[in-house]
Amino acid sequence: MENGIVLSMRHIDKVFPGVRALQNVDFTLRKGEIHALMGENGAGKSTLIKVLTGVYPKDGGEIYIEGVQDAIHIRSPQEAQSYGISTVYQEITLCPNLTVAENMYIGRGKGVTVKWNEMTEKAGKLLDSLGIPARPKQQLGSCSLAVQQMVAIARAVDIDCKVLILDEPTSSLDDKEVEMLFRLMRDLKARGVGIIFVTHFLEQVYEVSDRITVLRNGELVGEYEVEKLPQVELVAKMMGKELEGLNVIKKSGVSENGKAETLYQAHGLSSTASRPFDFNIAKGEVNGFTGLLGSGRSESVRAIFGADRVTGGEVRVGGKPVKITKPFDAMKNGIGYLPEDRKRDGIIADLSVRENIILALQVMKGFFHPFSRAEAEAFADKYIKALEIKTASSDTPIKSLSGGNQQKVILARWLLTHPQYLILDEPTRGIDVGTKTEIQRLVLRLAEEGMSVTFISSEIEEMLRTCSRLIVMRDRNIVGELTGDELTQDHVMYTIAGGGN
Ligand SMILES: Nc1ncnc2c1ncn2[C@@H]1O[C@H](COP(=O)(O)OP(=O)(O)OP(=O)(O)O)[C@@H](O)[C@H]1O
Ligand SMILES: [Mg+2]
Repeated sequence: MENGIVLSMRHIDKVFPGVRALQNVDFTLRKGEIHALMGENGAGKSTLIKVLTGVYPKDGGEIYIEGVQDAIHIRSPQEAQSYGISTVYQEITLCPNLTVAENMYIGRGKGVTVKWNEMTEKAGKLLDSLGIPARPKQQLGSCSLAVQQMVAIARAVDIDCKVLILDEPTSSLDDKEVEMLFRLMRDLKARGVGIIFVTHFLEQVYEVSDRITVLRNGELVGEYEVEKLPQVELVAKMMGKELEGLNVIKKSGVSENGKAETLYQAHGLSSTASRPFDFNIAKGEVNGFTGLLGSGRSESVRAIFGADRVTGGEVRVGGKPVKITKPFDAMKNGIGYLPEDRKRDGIIADLSVRENIILALQVMKGFFHPFSRAEAEAFADKYIKALEIKTASSDTPIKSLSGGNQQKVILARWLLTHPQYLILDEPTRGIDVGTKTEIQRLVLRLAEEGMSVTFISSEIEEMLRTCSRLIVMRDRNIVGELTGDELTQDHVMYTIAGGGN
């Protein structure tokens, strides 16, 4: 292997029943570089990582690691680790009810007796040297998600790591936390660790990476120096098409305020997680809640749907007073809700794509009146096609789909119930740029057909493209409402920040 290269994967093949996940893929990682691995949903990023870490056996190709003459065979994550290859997954797999130090040192090979004091001291030193704001004796669950992730990285690094893999590590972090993680990544890079960074956030790639490898449909598109690849070209390479049309989504004239009739109206609505607020949405209107992470935007829509315990307020749907205290009440009133945390509230991992799609409709119909197999299949196939869900069949367990495709399945679930009011909390998180645009288009089309939609996204630009009214939240209160000419990035940021007042 060439000098300075720490990992080389050659001609990697991986086939799943009905899917060629990887075909003749090459990947090279240098010492002390941050290398972004990019591609649309289902491109094969996670599969490549899983082959590298011994989660899946490869069907062809070779893997070489610095310091070992011959191609290596990795049959388990433990074996990968013995070669210095460590992963921190999209979902953190540590134990929240153990301490930080315990999480860093438990399960480290057989026969190693752990000496508590030593462990605490060692953990403290490592955390300090990496600048991670956690104390060794603190319960891991009491740390923020970002810090938990950094502890997972510290654990990996301590096991003498040459290759560190981060698969979508920033998808649920706020800006400050991302900065903290990047600082840690740069620090590790300076120590000579090679880092593979999987993400859908383009800006982040440009901020922190040295090189980019792009995959599409399981094949290698190319490897590029970040400086030499403009952002639009990267997107074009990921999608395999030129970019015309990506930015031409235009809001149609629906829902000029005041013209359409009010569909949903809440007065003094509050829940165990949200303060009392007033809110309404017209038929065919797309509006959104914006604000920093933790400003209360998710809690507000959860109260509307009855996802948290409702503690007060009056609600009208179509002018009639209704009681919505639990999700089922909301569903009966034609309200659908795509939750932010799809792992906790969304997918049922062991069920098939089809079962996951028909779930909400089945709940409404009652489980004693199951849909026939043919009905269920027709429903599922229609939405697999409409949303271009990448799956071998509707029978495939949803857990074997890529992250972005799982998200689409949950969206399909709600569309199938034909709600009159659909609430989408971060529907495009973890979804590639091409599909993002598709989903934005879909939202606008549904609105044109008369559906009301409330949209939440951390990307202001995305909200400006879809919403005709933005409700701005800060510290769990509504602090502004923007429409018309006020819908500009500057204005939104200014209101979020509370400029002037
Ligand atoms: N365990 C599995 N069984 C069957 N098919 C699978 C399995 N894991 C992945 N696939 C399929 O292989 C392809 C590549 O999936 P992969 O998870 O690698 O994509 P990805 O690039 O990580 O996408 P995302 O950005 O959505 O996370 C997809 O078509 C996926 O459905
Ligand atoms: Mg993935």
